[in-house]
Amino acid sequence: MKIQLTDTILNKHILLPVFSGFESAELEAHLLFLTGSSHKAFCSDFSAEAGEIHSIYVNDSKIILLGLGKKNSFGNIYKTVRKFSNKQKKQLSEEITIYLAHEDASQTPTSCEAILNGLITGTYSIGAWKSDDQQAHPLDSDDSIISVFTGKTGIKEFQVIAERAQVVAESQLRMLDLVNAPSNVKTPSYIAQFITESSTTYGYEVTVFSEDEIWENNLMALAAVNRGSEESAQFVIMNYKPENSSDATPTVGLVGKGVTYDTGGLSIKPSDSMAYMKSDMGGAAAVIGAFETAIRLRIPVNLIGIIPLTDNLVDSLSIKPGDIINSYSGKTIEVLNTDAEGRLILADGLSYLVRNFKPDHIIDLATLTGATVRTLGYHAAALFCNDDSLSTELESAGWYCGERLWRFPLWDEYADDMKSDVADLKNISRSPLAGAMFAAKFLEAFIDEHPSWAHLDIAGVSFGDTEFGKDKGGTAYGIRLLTEYLRNLVN
Ligand code: BES
Ligand code: ZN
Ligand code: ZN
Repeated sequence: MKIQLTDTILNKHILLPVFSGFESAELEAHLLFLTGSSHKAFCSDFSAEAGEIHSIYVNDSKIILLGLGKKNSFGNIYKTVRKFSNKQKKQLSEEITIYLAHEDASQTPTSCEAILNGLITGTYSIGAWKSDDQQAHPLDSDDSIISVFTGKTGIKEFQVIAERAQVVAESQLRMLDLVNAPSNVKTPSYIAQFITESSTTYGYEVTVFSEDEIWENNLMALAAVNRGSEESAQFVIMNYKPENSSDATPTVGLVGKGVTYDTGGLSIKPSDSMAYMKSDMGGAAAVIGAFETAIRLRIPVNLIGIIPLTDNLVDSLSIKPGDIINSYSGKTIEVLNTDAEGRLILADGLSYLVRNFKPDHIIDLATLTGATVRTLGYHAAALFCNDDSLSTELESAGWYCGERLWRFPLWDEYADDMKSDVADLKNISRSPLAGAMFAAKFLEAFIDEHPSWAHLDIAGVSFGDTEFGKDKGGTAYGIRLLTEYLRNLVN
């Protein structure tokens, strides 16, 4: 797919996005310019609600008016266009022009990036494993061309925007595939291999510890979760230094929960929604995706990525409620519930990061607790953070891109419940309340008092209802958020 800026409209197929509250006279003038005829009556009927579509055919050209709803953030535009692109692919063709000349100059960059990002991710097909041929999306082809007509100057700025929209969309598409893949395919070693291939394609370093090295390195909490599995756990360390990296370049450490399937272990989950637990590696996907985009967009930050990978299965060797395990940090953990496995593998991931690297900021992403889903539903991830400025930066990146975060407390009162009678910590609180806070306080015990750490509980947002299928599916949450955060960190 090629994206280009154009100053003449040669294409017969035009997408004209419109915010509600538009000036009728102005839209009429643009339609007159495009079609040579008046559309006065139409302009008073069309209200440009989000997702409202109206097509105008003139001779052999087609103009699709797409309502974007109220003038607002990147995230809402992106979501409306992604849905349109996916659901209305018959309306689209291999060559299409996006018309933005009617917009305020100040709105155009945001609209342009969000529309391009939405059009491209809307090409996603969830049916990779179906045997019959899927109807291809017209924009999902090497020959497809999206032209953008802004009617304004500023080509350089536009090229940067178009590149960013495309690069982020490509990672989002790759991560949708990974999250939606079944766990019998995406084993821990499959994902480790996926990361290794990504590292050669995009140019970063990767070290993979498989089972023996996990034991040799004392990553015992990860090893404990993996005991019930035939598949060896993997511990992936990703490392990127931009070419001009100096002492002033910030280093961000990203840790992603990579549970390729969570049955709950012996504290087994009910079976009705267990199938969704193939998505328990959504945190890992966000970290891989953000690595790829940050490198491809040449964002000048040093990045360390840590991805502990395992499934959580039932077997005679599985850890049992009541077992006491060791961890990389040296702290012992009483495992009272084997379904609270994410915090165990993250504990090792976080300790390994703080003890072997010097990150200025740490962000972990994990589909960690059902409690977060019960509190925030599918509309925001829970943010826990011990650094107010990191928190503000993440929250504002999330607001901008529509991957919202809502801050929860890290009060010490919650930590008392995580103290065990028989070990240093226990992995659950006996209280049925405030589950997301307990999980966060548990993780905090493994950051060695690092002053700038954020934990994102993405259980509600990483997998959900989308336009891609009838059942729930991956959302690629986190890639855009981390990309925005990293971009702003150095701008
Ligand atoms: N992977 C789950 C959390 C989850 C729930 C993710 C729903 C996505 C949707 C996690 O490992 C888990 O099972 N957490 C338990 C913790 C509890 C045992 C303290 C939970 O939330 O029920
Ligand atoms: Zn679990
Ligand atoms: Zn889990």
